[in-house]
Amino acid sequence: MSPYFGIFVVISIFVSTIGCLSEEPISPIPSDIQYDTDKARLGKRLFFDTKLSSDGSVSCANCHRINNGADVGKFSYGVGGREGNRNSPTVFNSVFNFRQMYNGSAADLARQAAAPIENPVEMHNDSQGVLRYLRNDSSYIKEFEKVYGKKEIEYRDVLDAIAEFEKTLITPNSRFDRYLRGEIDLSEEEKEGYRLFKTLGCITCHNGTNVGGNSYQKMGLINPYPWSEDSPDRFSISKREDDKNVYKVPSLRNIAVTAPYFHDGSAATLEEALAKMGYYNLGFKLSKREIALLKAFLQTLTGEIPKSLRKGGL
Ligand code: HEC
Ligand code: HEC
Repeated sequence: MSPYFGIFVVISIFVSTIGCLSEEPISPIPSDIQYDTDKARLGKRLFFDTKLSSDGSVSCANCHRINNGADVGKFSYGVGGREGNRNSPTVFNSVFNFRQMYNGSAADLARQAAAPIENPVEMHNDSQGVLRYLRNDSSYIKEFEKVYGKKEIEYRDVLDAIAEFEKTLITPNSRFDRYLRGEIDLSEEEKEGYRLFKTLGCITCHNGTNVGGNSYQKMGLINPYPWSEDSPDRFSISKREDDKNVYKVPSLRNIAVTAPYFHDGSAATLEEALAKMGYYNLGFKLSKREIALLKAFLQTLTGEIPKSLRKGGL
């Protein structure tokens, strides 16, 4: 297919989704976010508690690590060492996503939290199993009563507390955000990378606070991407042909530290991910130089480790 067709398609989406570019299409992560400290503290304890899983071996933090919110491997391991079939996205900044999960099946963080607890290859538990454990632990009983003011622990509150903690997992003050706020300048290479990100059309899908996370788009818009029966795509919900390989666009915040990439973990390095994006979604082969510039820009999107994960942070 002609590369010009790719450019044409991308420009059309661009014009229709963004309209005008009088303002920068990416906005900084706020330096602070409102949350309930008591709930978040309780949620943090739950997030790191392996006893929420059926065999007591896996917590949320097993797959969403504290250095980058994601997992290091291509896939993750759940209870009994069971291997999942998709790459763990980072939970950092997920509060800014318009929906959660690759296929957007969870409307918010609290609803999302039930999925891994109940997933047979992740924590393989259920609400009853979780409550049996928590209702037998005197310190949890005390803490839940203090925070939620109820005599008995409810599953809904467990999910709510975890979600409240996840709100705190934001990574402000990346070099790019500081540049947007006029506090520092970027190198010529980094600025050239940002310009390229806009002119090539990456920005049509990756924009907003999370540089993604705000729309569903096709992986393989121009050149078809391999599809498999277990793809966690929109098709898995809608069963519409058009929805095959359509995913919530991932955030590119902290992208330099969350390898490997794509839902199937098929790109081991950022360079490889960029080359694939160029080919599948823009319809052309990016040059080595373009990849290096884009990478230089993307590296400026690495923010600070969330305060709530640092010593004395919550
Ligand atoms: C065994 C590994 C594993 C465990 C344990 C796990 N997750 Fe995940 N998490 C994943 C994978 C894989 C996905 C992507 C699933 C999908 O979208 O289909 C994911 C997705 C998410 C997302 C959505 C992020 C986004 O951008 O859409 C959030 C939020 C999240 N997990 C939070 C949690 C919480 C909270 C827990 C604990 C209750 C947890 N996870 C436990 C592997 C895991
Ligand atoms: C038509 C929309 C679209 C365009 C244009 C686009 N992307 Fe993407 N991007 C996506 C989608 C959808 C995914 C998720 C693919 C998957 O998980 O299989 C993605 C994934 C990525 C990833 C991997 C993220 C992760 O955490 O795994 C990177 C990096 C990336 N894009 C960078 C770029 C760059 C750089 C450009 C421009 C050269 C670009 N994208 C253009 C939609 C787009």
